[in-house]
Amino acid sequence: MIKDLLQTKQKLINDRLSCLLKADIREHETLYASMNYSLLAGGKRIRPFLFLTILDTLGVDSSAYLDAACALECVHTYSLIHDDLPAMDNDDYRRGRLTNHKVYGAGMATQAGDGLLTAAFQILAEEKNIAAPIRVELISILARAAGPKGMVGGQAHDMEAEGKQLDLKELKILDACKTGCLLSAPVSMACAVAEVPLKERLLLENFASHLGLLFQITDDLLDEKGNLEDMGKMPGQDEKDHKSTFVTILGAEKAEMYAEQEASLAKEALAKLPFDSTILYELVDLILHRKK
Ligand code: IPE
Ligand code: IPE
Ligand code: MG
Ligand code: MG
Ligand code: MG
Repeated sequence: MIKDLLQTKQKLINDRLSCLLKADIREHETLYASMNYSLLAGGKRIRPFLFLTILDTLGVDSSAYLDAACALECVHTYSLIHDDLPAMDNDDYRRGRLTNHKVYGAGMATQAGDGLLTAAFQILAEEKNIAAPIRVELISILARAAGPKGMVGGQAHDMEAEGKQLDLKELKILDACKTGCLLSAPVSMACAVAEVPLKERLLLENFASHLGLLFQITDDLLDEKGNLEDMGKMPGQDEKDHKSTFVTILGAEKAEMYAEQEASLAKEALAKLPFDSTILYELVDLILHRKK
């Protein structure tokens, strides 16, 4: 069920993304090629999927919000391009191809990331299908999640933590920012669109915060146990970069237990919701058992 739905939504998202970013003048063609190189390379599309699926669950016609979903994916893809740069994780493979900077150089990859980030906010600001007050709220949610108190803050913390042994409490703060925020944003954005009552919104945001942590724990586990073919990125990078991860702090076995615990907590939040959220339970299991 979830796999079919994910595939259907991935196709919608990919089709829209493929015509979203086009150069107007020849002089910008390399920049656009570089942005689209990473944006259209596949990727699981979990963040836009989460946004669209929660809208469906809340009884909103999600087809009207495809561009807002694509904005989320633009921000996420930018974060990956910058994450892979030589000055950051220095990785060679992403989404089954060479990383952006390996093909276009670090300077152009930096611009491609900047371009995707900025384009995302232009897309949201100019989305006339969404009433202006809601649009402002969506822009605010995404800016907070992506910015210095969110993903960028987490990435800076991650850089500064290289070569140090963090404790679990600190790692959870780091991961909540670097990964959790961009997984919570789609949930909060869907709640804003559907004008969900506060009590339900808090439950959904609680679900999202556990889902975000679960997502990073399984990412850390895959770095230890996964392979290039499935993941489209090279395993073993965290050790190379002297990162503190759930695996380095707890060991793989305990990290797996921790992932299961986060999955249970995410489901506990869902169980309190007054509507059917079966698809979100399935998403939790999909992330818990993912191979990519
Ligand atoms: C990878 O994100 C970076 C993390 C936040 C761990 P994804 O695993 O969602 O990457 P794609 O979008 O599928 O390539
Ligand atoms: C990065 O975490 C999260 C981002 C904000 C992009 P990782 O550095 O662990 O992500 P991967 O393993 O390179 O995809
Ligand atoms: Mg990183
Ligand atoms: Mg990385
Ligand atoms: Mg990783």
